[in-house]
Amino acid sequence: MTAPLLEVDGLRKVFVDEEFETPVLKGVTFALQRGEMVAMLGPSGSGKSTLLSILGTLMRPTSGSFRMLGRELTALREAELSDFRNQQIGFIFQYHHLLPDFSALENVLFPHAGRLWRETRAGRERAAMLLERVGLAERMHYRATRLSGGQKQRVAIARALMNQPALVLADEPTGNLDRENADQAFALMTEIQRETGTTFLLSTHDRELAERCERRIYIQGGVVVDAPTSAALGTSPAISARQPLRMVPGEVVAVVDRTSNTTRDDGDRRLA
Ligand SMILES: Nc1ncnc2c1ncn2[C@@H]1O[C@H](COP(=O)(O)OP(=O)(O)OP(=O)(O)O)[C@@H](O)[C@H]1O
Ligand SMILES: [Mg+2]
Repeated sequence: MTAPLLEVDGLRKVFVDEEFETPVLKGVTFALQRGEMVAMLGPSGSGKSTLLSILGTLMRPTSGSFRMLGRELTALREAELSDFRNQQIGFIFQYHHLLPDFSALENVLFPHAGRLWRETRAGRERAAMLLERVGLAERMHYRATRLSGGQKQRVAIARALMNQPALVLADEPTGNLDRENADQAFALMTEIQRETGTTFLLSTHDRELAERCERRIYIQGGVVVDAPTSAALGTSPAISARQPLRMVPGEVVAVVDRTSNTTRDDGDRRLA
């Protein structure tokens, strides 16, 4: 069995400001195998978004470590981290975060072109191919503001894949969509995961969608309370056979909220 794509070990996060010290993650440990799609579930306030921000290297943990593709990310300096993030991690958020005055194509191109907008012909072709893949070939040149909610989220999915990341982190990617669009966006992510072997970790309150992921991780009060591993992962012929459109080996994982219909989990907040 090959090494996991991501190994998370004892991650802690305490938010500190003048008023409060808020321990949010209290020792999160789990691993993601290449090519899996995992759902992360947990009550509101349990720390899912915080964890995804840390794994996406958008925020530093207070302690603990995580390795991806054999690199200890907590040890990297800002510049190295930002290169790594740009090349290996794709993001999909609940609210699409598209640049409103840019076209669908330009939005997808953005992670490739960067702020100084250095695009290549191959980049533009890839962006167009991805938009076609998400069913938006005819909307390519529409400004983001002229797209429907479901279409915007499909642009966001294409954008997340632009740089062929090993890992896509999605924070409630269907949370803002109606049932039909949510199902469509989810189906698209699943298909792309299978086609490319890209690993997906997605947080959701939608148990139905979580059940469609290969595996679920449950978070409560800042710790993983349940993370069954799939015995077949890593050795599954279904996974190793995935090739077409291949961008990067990976897995799709979702983080699911087992208790999201019950109480909010605000963790313990105490005065600093
Ligand atoms: N910058 C911050 N400063 C202080 N506390 C914070 C900060 N960001 C988040 N928190 C706290 O961390 C806890 C976890 O928040 P987080 O957004 O990770 O939860 P979540 O599991 O994503 O919830 P939801 O399902 O509602 O999206 C919450 O109690 C929140 O108040
Ligand atoms: Mg959240």
